[in-house]
Amino acid sequence: MKGMHCVVTGATSGIGKEIARGLVEAGAHLLFICRDRARGEATLAELGQGGPPTALRMLVADLSVLDDVRRVADEVHSQLPRVDVLVNNAGTHDLHPEVSADGFDRMIATNHLGPFLLTNLLTDLLERGAPARIVWVASESHRSVLHMDPYHFAEPGSYGPIGSLSVYARSKLLNVLVTQEIARRWTPQGITANAFCPGLVSTGLTRNIPMGSTLFSLAERTPLVRSAAQGAEQALRLAGDPSFTTRSGGFYSTVPGAALLPPALHRYRTGLQHAVWERSAELVGI
Ligand SMILES: NC(=O)c1ccc[n+]([C@@H]2O[C@H](COP(=O)([O-])OP(=O)(O)OC[C@H]3O[C@@H](n4cnc5c(N)ncnc54)[C@H](OP(=O)(O)O)[C@@H]3O)[C@@H](O)[C@H]2O)c1
Repeated sequence: MKGMHCVVTGATSGIGKEIARGLVEAGAHLLFICRDRARGEATLAELGQGGPPTALRMLVADLSVLDDVRRVADEVHSQLPRVDVLVNNAGTHDLHPEVSADGFDRMIATNHLGPFLLTNLLTDLLERGAPARIVWVASESHRSVLHMDPYHFAEPGSYGPIGSLSVYARSKLLNVLVTQEIARRWTPQGITANAFCPGLVSTGLTRNIPMGSTLFSLAERTPLVRSAAQGAEQALRLAGDPSFTTRSGGFYSTVPGAALLPPALHRYRTGLQHAVWERSAELVGI
């Protein structure tokens, strides 16, 4: 991946940091987007040791805030001649509902609407990088969504820790549906998109769960839970393996046995993919 221009969101922690590390080690020019400048600078220092300064850059944006996404997309345009790989990794699992600056459920804004807008605003740079790849860090949890309303998925609601699981799952189904819609829309421009599930990974995602970090770091010593570096492996394959250059619209699970399961209920509903895309575009104002 020497000299390739890669953009990764949420590289300050967990799976995203390991994806960033893997890309830097493979010789890519990495620009990462983070929401906290101090954590971003710590990541720059950790990943940048020894490399040329232009090979590793950061920009700051809260992806749940659409104005921030628009600003950071402009900044990416001023920093990069093209984008060869975009990894939409940043994500959150809020146990209680929060409202985003634009009035949406914040978990849906962070996991879906912000990345959706960013991806659309970077299309011209991706076209210049063609064959270019988009990688979405989704989740097997998308299977659990029984009903998906393509017109009402972003409104703030009320839920507790148990209900939050279904909102998180919905956000990950949105990632999968958008991946499939990109495959249909942007293949002629030489842009592919694939989503994957990293498995159950011990990361900051569990920081809001009482005792979550302690339980996960104990479980990390068992085969049940993976390290962030293991969780990043499939992303690095989708980003760089030549066998994925033209494959698009796939969902690749790394969960043992998941390949034996039938596809999720909503995966092949092209009408739903289209409707979700159109509604998302309307909500983010493009
Ligand atoms: N861990 C798992 O078992 C698992 C399983 C399936 C899928 N995933 C997916 O993997 C992805 C990475 O999560 P992770 O497990 O590595 O969790 P993590 O350690 O919490 O990392 C999440 C990253 O996203 C960033 N982020 C969160 N909200 C943001 C916002 N509003 N704007 C910009 N950046 C934001 C975080 O920044 P800060 O450092 O500032 O918090 C952090 O860098 C997520 O999309 C998640 O849904 C995880």
